[in-house]
Amino acid sequence: MQNINAKKPIGIFDSGVGGLSVLHEIRRALPGEDLLYVADSGHAPYGDKSQQFIEQRSIAISEFLISNNVKAIVVACNTATGAAIATLRSRFSVPIIAMEPAVKPAVSLSKTGVIGVLATSRTLAGDNFVQLFARHGGDVQILGQACPGLVEQVEAGDLSGPAARLLLERYVHPLLEQQADIIVLGCTHYPFLASLIQEIVGPTVAVIDSAAAVARELYRRLEVEQLLANDKKVGTELFWTSGSLAQAEPIFSQLWKENVDLNSLCDRRLSKNCCC
Ligand code: DGL
Repeated sequence: MQNINAKKPIGIFDSGVGGLSVLHEIRRALPGEDLLYVADSGHAPYGDKSQQFIEQRSIAISEFLISNNVKAIVVACNTATGAAIATLRSRFSVPIIAMEPAVKPAVSLSKTGVIGVLATSRTLAGDNFVQLFARHGGDVQILGQACPGLVEQVEAGDLSGPAARLLLERYVHPLLEQQADIIVLGCTHYPFLASLIQEIVGPTVAVIDSAAAVARELYRRLEVEQLLANDKKVGTELFWTSGSLAQAEPIFSQLWKENVDLNSLCDRRLSKNCCC
């Protein structure tokens, strides 16, 4: 059992840069914490991969974070949560916080009784998601919309160009035609498209995500476990990507809104066979 204590960092991972939307909220809620972020951009998107593949990547990345002495892990990816959360929790003893699309608040906010959920097809097909619908849906009609191509737009840093707009109009218009008045962003990449989505749906439709709720849940777990860092100190961030450093660095800096010094996480390093 590793020696975890309040001074250790928190590990956060996603299939790519999408989890930075969660990292922003974690930084806001927990200014004194040291944060280690892994983007598995070399294998994004996860949404069209098999459950076994996503599970194996999630285990390898979690092992890497634990070898860096993290006191908790945030799975900042809805797709990895659906594919791997039970395995991760059974395998590792640190607190593991997962994503859950904001269906519950959406159901209580909706006036038309129809909500739309944008997510990857793997997330929408997963047991967790089906159970979430069953638990919170009630009389509200929940329309799941898979969004192939959107993760790639964000990975490329194209948040407002014609290609992103075209895809979003194709995914969102059918939901509006069915009177959805709340759009839930069920993938951590999508909050980076939130301005464009809001522009497309107009002011009478709310666009919500669960990043702030996940940051609150992380705070609560660390407090319960007496693992909160001293918030008088300024926390640090350390970033890794399994993708190309040259391509990823400007996108990280764009999305994190400051210059990011990025480290490479090659597959050999993850499998502990690395010489780089
Ligand atoms: N950010 C991931 C999620 O929340 C994106 C999934 C993907 O890579 O397809 O689902």
